[in-house]
Amino acid sequence: MALIPKESIIFERSVPGKVGMDMPALDVPIASDTRPSHLKRLSFSAMPEVSEVDVIRHFTRLSRWNFGVDDGLYPLGSCTMKHNPRINEKVASLPGFAQSHPLAPAKHVQGNMVLMWTLQEWLKEITGLAAVTLHPAAGAHGELTGVMLIRAYHISKGSKRSIMLIPDSAHGTNPATAAMAGYTCVEVPSQADGTISFDDVTDASSGKTKKGLLSLLKEHGSEVAGIMITNPNTVGIFEYRIGEIAKLLHDIDALLYMDGANMNALMGVARPGDFGIDVMHLNLHKTFGTPHGGGGPGSGPVACSIALEPFLPRPVVVKTSGGYELEWNRPQSIGKMHSYFGNFAMEVRALAFCLSHGSDGLRKATMRAIINANYIRKQLEGTYHLQYSTPTLHEVVFDDTHQSKHGVNTLDIAKGLIDRGFHPPTIYFPLVIHGALMIEPTESESKAELDAFIEAMLDIAKGAENNPDSIKQCPVKAPVCRLDETTAARKPVLRWKAPSANS
Ligand SMILES: Cc1ncc(COP(=O)(O)O)c(C=O)c1O
Repeated sequence: MALIPKESIIFERSVPGKVGMDMPALDVPIASDTRPSHLKRLSFSAMPEVSEVDVIRHFTRLSRWNFGVDDGLYPLGSCTMKHNPRINEKVASLPGFAQSHPLAPAKHVQGNMVLMWTLQEWLKEITGLAAVTLHPAAGAHGELTGVMLIRAYHISKGSKRSIMLIPDSAHGTNPATAAMAGYTCVEVPSQADGTISFDDVTDASSGKTKKGLLSLLKEHGSEVAGIMITNPNTVGIFEYRIGEIAKLLHDIDALLYMDGANMNALMGVARPGDFGIDVMHLNLHKTFGTPHGGGGPGSGPVACSIALEPFLPRPVVVKTSGGYELEWNRPQSIGKMHSYFGNFAMEVRALAFCLSHGSDGLRKATMRAIINANYIRKQLEGTYHLQYSTPTLHEVVFDDTHQSKHGVNTLDIAKGLIDRGFHPPTIYFPLVIHGALMIEPTESESKAELDAFIEAMLDIAKGAENNPDSIKQCPVKAPVCRLDETTAARKPVLRWKAPSANS
């Protein structure tokens, strides 16, 4: 397929008088215009005048410039871009699910109720926790729900704690969530192996000392509401002292929130409830193969301990002797976090994922995700620098230390991958690693696809050494080449304006 290197925007294709439809002449009087003037556009001059063929070809061509998970390996670490099994889509589109009305009485939609209840049971088993809500619409929304449960718990005990501890390796949404829920975030530093430091940490270059977990707990004591730990953390490392951390927190009646978005590294192998987690969220798109959907509508269910269960959003789906019901009478509930019961179509897909894999299959998916990431790690370590030698699970974070000696940095490496037919990994995140290249292949990829990616990465490293300019100019094969990304981010032009008559 030949890519057209330049595609003007639809407004620039506009030809005065050109139309996309041919309407018959009006054979009735023109209706009077009753629209209030404040709702009227001042002019329609900004509408492109194009034919149907123009529109279809323009947007079809643009769509071919895009790269999606159905095109090839999309190793965006932390985002987990994996295959969305088509069986999930098929099941979600069954009329009984897709066309049922959210206001239908529970007794008329018992099938949907069974589905929600069954998914809750699977998630309880997978997390090892006592209760689940399916309401939250995304991972970050799940975090907010979970932190609100923590807040409700402390308030119910008459204490109003103000501090949330957040490790520096946490996902960026964690401190944002804690701040939104009204907490002051206090950072916990990482130690040399990339996990949470219990002891104080002194920075070798600045000589500054940051308080470790033990000192912070001593300093803030009963002001600590909890800690939010991404586990495995954003470097892909499992927080192996999580059980000890749970105990330290519980000793002062503070709670342990686990950002479980990376559950695709644990599912079927380890259950957070078993190592002392009080509350966590799951990202259905990262672990259960539901589509990302461009930021939504997604689903980020929350699982919690029995102590937090009374505070769950309402209604809660319950099983009774007469069938399945929505329980509204929950006086301690934090209220509603979403209209109806969350994004039901995602719940259908997630249960289809569980049932089609079976419990053994879920465990296998986890093991494959870990093996795939570690295969890439093994093949590329040495060529690309690793800040931590600690074993990693479902993702591996390299950096550009070796390549930057030749003037080639992380951004250049990412652009080099575009020319070699791959979507770049997540770059410059997590912040604890300078020049990070965060690679997450997921369980979806075959060895052949991984080998092709590894070859591309090795080829870029060779180019960086022998001919750095060849990498710094990438991409040269894409429809658009190097963009001024700083200006694009700082002064985005998001709206087309008609050129003025004299310009
Ligand atoms: C570790 C982690 N936490 C939280 C989130 C936020 O999830 P969402 O984008 O669904 O809000 C993500 C997103 O990928 C994540 O990787």
